Amino acid sequence: MLHQKIEAADRSVSGLLVDHVSVRIGATPIVNDVSFHAKPGEVLAIIGPSGSGKTTLLRAMTGELQYIGHVLLSGLEIGDLSPEAQAQIRGVLPQLSQISFPLNVSEVIGLGLIDRQQARRTRLVRIAEALSKVGLAGFEGRNYQDLSGGEQQRVQLARVLCQVWEPVSGDGTPRWLFLDEPVSSLDIKHQYQIMRLAADFAAKGGGVVSVMHDLNLTLTFADRVLVMRKGETLAFGAREKVMRTDLLSRAYDFPLTLTRCAVAGAPIVVPVTGR
Ligand SMILES: Nc1ncnc2c1ncn2[C@@H]1O[C@H](COP(=O)(O)OP(=O)(O)OP(=O)(O)O)[C@@H](O)[C@H]1O
Ligand SMILES: [Mg+2]
Repeated sequence: MLHQKIEAADRSVSGLLVDHVSVRIGATPIVNDVSFHAKPGEVLAIIGPSGSGKTTLLRAMTGELQYIGHVLLSGLEIGDLSPEAQAQIRGVLPQLSQISFPLNVSEVIGLGLIDRQQARRTRLVRIAEALSKVGLAGFEGRNYQDLSGGEQQRVQLARVLCQVWEPVSGDGTPRWLFLDEPVSSLDIKHQYQIMRLAADFAAKGGGVVSVMHDLNLTLTFADRVLVMRKGETLAFGAREKVMRTDLLSRAYDFPLTLTRCAVAGAPIVVPVTGR
């Protein structure tokens, strides 16, 4: 690992601490000196233009990519943990999940079940419940590759939910969901359904970090927002502080304005441009 090893886990650091994290791929810097603190019980959205380093940062935070700096999850340096230990405390929904061999939906979700000794009946109940949560009840026997893009995305989320299951482990340690554009293939109803699931996981004491492109969903579901631009932090903080007309327009280099929906009363972002 490129980061300096921490001798012992610093249990006094709760939640997710990202401390001066940089990621280089080859000689190219992709993420530069990003720092923030996320708390369990909240949804953190990572937003920013395409290519700004959101996925790269997320993959560093989940221990999939080497990083400089520190990523502490409940005081544990994520990059120092074994894949099994990482899987105990966090689940990851990647931006792209391609499976090139023939598996049915149950088998795909089963890939996420860590406890192989678990009774078959318990596994089946858990898989059925996860599928029901993502609106795919009864899909167990379907061939994964025959599913639509949105159905596959929801099966992948069911896999992650099956893996982490309880938002807080038996010893009181929060578990975390790291989601990379979890609703990118979904229609608007299912976007809300899946984001509600994520918010519910946080409400029950877990942590959620989700890369988002949809600014209106971010306004609805994020408690805190990290805005990235060119691999760096443009802003980090509470949703109301960060989701501002000037800041968002600058982040995306595109004229945007925040207004309020006359019907729902909710804040919305709209472009200030014609066709
Ligand atoms: N393995 C790699 N080799 C070379 N460049 C890479 C590699 N991985 C990422 N990059 C580059 O790093 C930059 C950030 O990529 P990243 O996938 O983190 O962006 P992103 O913010 O998630 O974008 P998007 O919203 O399009 O998913 C991009 O310019 C990308 O081309
Ligand atoms: Mg990405």
